[in-house]
Amino acid sequence: ARSFGDKIQLFHLYVFLLHILLLTVYQYNSSSGKNWEPPPPTNFYPRDCSAAYQRGRRQNGLYVIRPKGGPFLVVYCDMETDGGGWTVLQRNTHNSYLTWSASWTTYQYGFGNLMDDYWFGSEYIHIITNAKHAFYKAKFLLKNNNKIYEANYYTFNVADESTNYTLRLGSYSGNATDALTSHSKFGIHDNMMFSTKDRDNDKSDKNCADNRGGWWYNNCESALLNTDSNIKWSTYQDC
Ligand SMILES: *[C@@H]1O[C@H](CO)[C@@H](O)[C@H](O)[C@H]1NC(C)=O
Ligand SMILES: *[C@@H]1O[C@H](CO)[C@@H](O)[C@H](O)[C@H]1NC(C)=O
Repeated sequence: ARSFGDKIQLFHLYVFLLHILLLTVYQYNSSSGKNWEPPPPTNFYPRDCSAAYQRGRRQNGLYVIRPKGGPFLVVYCDMETDGGGWTVLQRNTHNSYLTWSASWTTYQYGFGNLMDDYWFGSEYIHIITNAKHAFYKAKFLLKNNNKIYEANYYTFNVADESTNYTLRLGSYSGNATDALTSHSKFGIHDNMMFSTKDRDNDKSDKNCADNRGGWWYNNCESALLNTDSNIKWSTYQDC
């Protein structure tokens, strides 16, 4: 077993980035040369950071995107990590200024500062990851002292509100340990509904989100990244 999980208290500067990478962008508009018309303005906006990257954008920072059928959104794009084109959905620094214990609606539409710590919004994460013909990969970057560990899931998807934003993950790769799709006494996070302090959808007798951040709790968690302190990512925690 790795010692990573047992030494969770050693996090000094902790940064977690969840990025999603659009793996397939195949979309053709059949238009003959003669009848060509400029695309409607909405097409000028990339559907995510991966599409922006494919259009040659290489700078980290804020971009306006428009997921298919969705609203215009301002996102932070990471154009450097692992090939670039990552849409950053969450960032949490150890001793974050944010109060992560927030309501369902606050989580739904996001909070924080895109240049600092934030949650992008469960509804927006759903909209992006459910675009037709799009497959996303999630990368969780965990910084412990000066070392960075990563957990990748291919695929990554958050279902709609009628399912309470159920998390759906594919297979794991990386060196951070698989804290989301592997068994532990806390259950498995994959396929769990999202819970917040005012919406208890977990498998525990108590409300896991009580006084804590919103998350895909089971009984209760082997990983928790939306939290003020004790950021947790381990199947070995408390063992
Ligand atoms: C974990 O894997 C990533 C990606 O290969 C690598 O950049 C990082 O240095 C690794 N972390 C450690 C502590 O070995
Ligand atoms: C979603 O959450 C609400 C409130 O916690 C709950 O009443 C409802 O049954 C949940 N939906 C599903 C599909 O379980």
